Amino acid sequence: MPEKSSPSPLRVALLGCGVVGTEVARGILQNPIDLAARVGAPVELAGIAVRSVDAVRVTDDGFVIPSELLTTDAEALVDRADVVVEVMGGIEPARTLIGRALEAGAAVVTANKALLAERGPELFEAADQAGVDLLFEAAVAGAIPIVRPIRESLAGDHVRRVLGIVNGTTNFVLDKMTTEGVELDQAVKEAQALGYAEADPTADVDGFDAAAKAAILASLAFHTRVALKDVAREGIRGVTAADVAWAKRTGHVIKLLAVAEVIGPVDDGDISVRVHPALVPDDHPLAAVRGAFNAVFVEADGAGPLMFYGQGAGGRPTASAVLGDVVSAARRRLTGGKGVRESKGQAFPVLPAEAAITRFQVRLAIADRPGVLAQVAGVLAEHGVSIDTVRQTSSHTEDQSGIANLVITTHAAREASLRATVDAVARLEPVRQIISVLRVEGS
Ligand code: NDP
Ligand code: HSE
Repeated sequence: MPEKSSPSPLRVALLGCGVVGTEVARGILQNPIDLAARVGAPVELAGIAVRSVDAVRVTDDGFVIPSELLTTDAEALVDRADVVVEVMGGIEPARTLIGRALEAGAAVVTANKALLAERGPELFEAADQAGVDLLFEAAVAGAIPIVRPIRESLAGDHVRRVLGIVNGTTNFVLDKMTTEGVELDQAVKEAQALGYAEADPTADVDGFDAAAKAAILASLAFHTRVALKDVAREGIRGVTAADVAWAKRTGHVIKLLAVAEVIGPVDDGDISVRVHPALVPDDHPLAAVRGAFNAVFVEADGAGPLMFYGQGAGGRPTASAVLGDVVSAARRRLTGGKGVRESKGQAFPVLPAEAAITRFQVRLAIADRPGVLAQVAGVLAEHGVSIDTVRQTSSHTEDQSGIANLVITTHAAREASLRATVDAVARLEPVRQIISVLRVEGS
């Protein structure tokens, strides 16, 4: 009887050996027996493409990546791989290398949300044409399994809404402001000192990173293509310590949220995709997400509310998600066929920012005298914006100069109506200042 031959190893090409790549390399090199058992064939790290082969690559706990695996010839490495793992980041050369891999029939795993949000459609098309996998669990919320649950576990349901805290740096900053009462600049400095925020914190603080993830989440949840340019984006730069303190007084915390929702019928509606700071009620599960953690709250017709929570960044947590994709891609490479495809059957129009519907909390300074509240309420009524609650702090307690703080929370209104209302309120004689306008989500 001839001996059954053992399957040939599956070759993995790793593009990048930085924060995430070093941990992916360690995961493959340290666990050959587990990986082979899960895949059904040995998994071999064929090489690692970097810019500099001279730098020593070592994990935080001292695992040294063998220098003979490093190469600057990424193209040659891609050409001899069964699975290409892209963790170099940026648009080029990542896009070209992924395209090259897909064309050659290799499966691709990437953590690159910026690339997917900008060039995702063409890459998914190329993967479809080639009949191979393009997997990206790590691109949204790091270690948290959210891509596969939305794409596969909820494939038979209708997702209505996704609310996500998908940027750990801004959650850390807002949490510091909430717990310690500090201003944004100081909290950002602390985030930088702890290594959460970059020296240039723009991508996080101004919401670009969260917007890329929002585009990916919306595309998955609504089986459509949402590009980065479709996402209305507002970062946290305008949030003050006073806003955070007022949020507390009204039973909320401020979070930077990625929101993707269907407005109208689930099979024939419009979608709204946006990133902005929002007041979240204290009793909402997202309010409990502290520090640099991430969470994604999904509302689906059948499943109801679901919450996914965990570490959204960091080498080891992110590599965990990458390695899960490597096992899936390698296994399918071995057994043939393809996983659940990117579903893009729907063509929901994406609403412009002004058409989004949400609740608002408006904080204004007014002259503290009879009739002012009625005047302000009248302007809201004229614009069809319905008031939910009003809270006034009188000049006697708040400010001896005869100025009072008025905090109005509205029922759901279109953003355009609210903006017109706020402009009209600002023109009233007794109104001294519109201090802040914040959206309220999750209630
Ligand atoms: P790093 O900057 O730490 O690492 C990037 C790696 O890619 C480096 O090894 C670098 O080489 C290599 N590289 C960059 N450009 C080239 C190039 N042109 N040719 C060859 N090699 C290149 O990035 P991270 O590990 O932090 O992030 C990687 C990806 O993972 C990004 O897309 C990021 O958005 C995503 N991600 C990161 C998370 C995190 O917590 N860090 C979380 C979730 C996703 P060299 O070292 O020689 O310069
Ligand atoms: N800068 C991102 C964050 C890293 O703070 O969440 C993960 O994408």
